[in-house]
Amino acid sequence: MKCRRCKGPAVIELRRHNAGFCGDCFVHHCREQVRRAIDEHRMMAAGERVLVAVSGGKDSLALWDILIELGYSVDGLYLGLGIGEYSASSGDHTRAFAARRGAHLIEIDLPTDLGFDIPNGSRAAKRVPCSACGLSKRHLFNQAAVDGGYDVVATGHNLDDEAAVLFGNVLRWNIEYLGRQLPVLAAGLGFVRKVKPLVRLGEREMAAYCILRGIDYIVEECPMAEGNRHLAYKEALNDIEERSPGAKAAFYFEFLEKASHLFQATADATRAELRPCSSCGSATPGDTCAFCKLRARAGAASS
Ligand code: AMP
Ligand code: FES
Ligand code: ZN
Repeated sequence: MKCRRCKGPAVIELRRHNAGFCGDCFVHHCREQVRRAIDEHRMMAAGERVLVAVSGGKDSLALWDILIELGYSVDGLYLGLGIGEYSASSGDHTRAFAARRGAHLIEIDLPTDLGFDIPNGSRAAKRVPCSACGLSKRHLFNQAAVDGGYDVVATGHNLDDEAAVLFGNVLRWNIEYLGRQLPVLAAGLGFVRKVKPLVRLGEREMAAYCILRGIDYIVEECPMAEGNRHLAYKEALNDIEERSPGAKAAFYFEFLEKASHLFQATADATRAELRPCSSCGSATPGDTCAFCKLRARAGAASS
């Protein structure tokens, strides 16, 4: 197979695009897909300060690399979640990348800076680890961006992630989440803008990008995510994609184009009911936000 762009020998085939690429042209293809996602969804403008949330995995390290190469002013944010060896290693990979690229990395360590870790905090709050982890990440990404004066937070969610979340939300007709499942969430109510510039690229493409760019990422998945429903949705979609290349991208992008606006009103109505958390000031439907409740319960259990 020949490279679509330079006609040299291809090293990777993308069935969804019915194309092959050599190493250099594949790297170019990935950057172009990110550039297109940013332009089409108006994710960020030149000169804005971007904070990319980096886990040490392939997606977020590749995203950081691509945004640097595209010329954005971008710093990294790493959260130490206190998940044993997994967190130690993901932190090492993130720091090594930042040092190699001479990029600025902000670090927040949950056990030392906030007094709890995800395994104990989730137990104390009687939440499954991924839920405690997800809400902590959302809160802390935003807080760090506000504190640091950033215009936008970027995460490494890729097409496989977004299609799997969409699949789960459709299976349960989770109307409110469907209205918020966008590649860009506008700023407002104390939230900075949130963007997902990798929505046009899949998991396999991100792994190949890292290998071609010599980016050393943590391969292990989080040990607490085992048995997670999300993984089952990914497998189901991969089976469908295998039989029908392009199905995953069509599912996600046709949703954005043809259906997502139908759920907007419900999502907006929920947002309109938010008020400031009595403890930290972030917007919440109740009196105290979920993060402050988690932190209080986790703190009480460890003291
Ligand atoms: P996950 O929640 O593991 O699916 O990760 C989704 C995105 O959240 C990643 O692509 C990163 O951008 C970000 N992220 C996940 N874990 C961390 C972490 N420990 N520190 C900073 N960002 C993270
Ligand atoms: Fe959050 Fe595993 S990374 S529970
Ligand atoms: Zn709060």
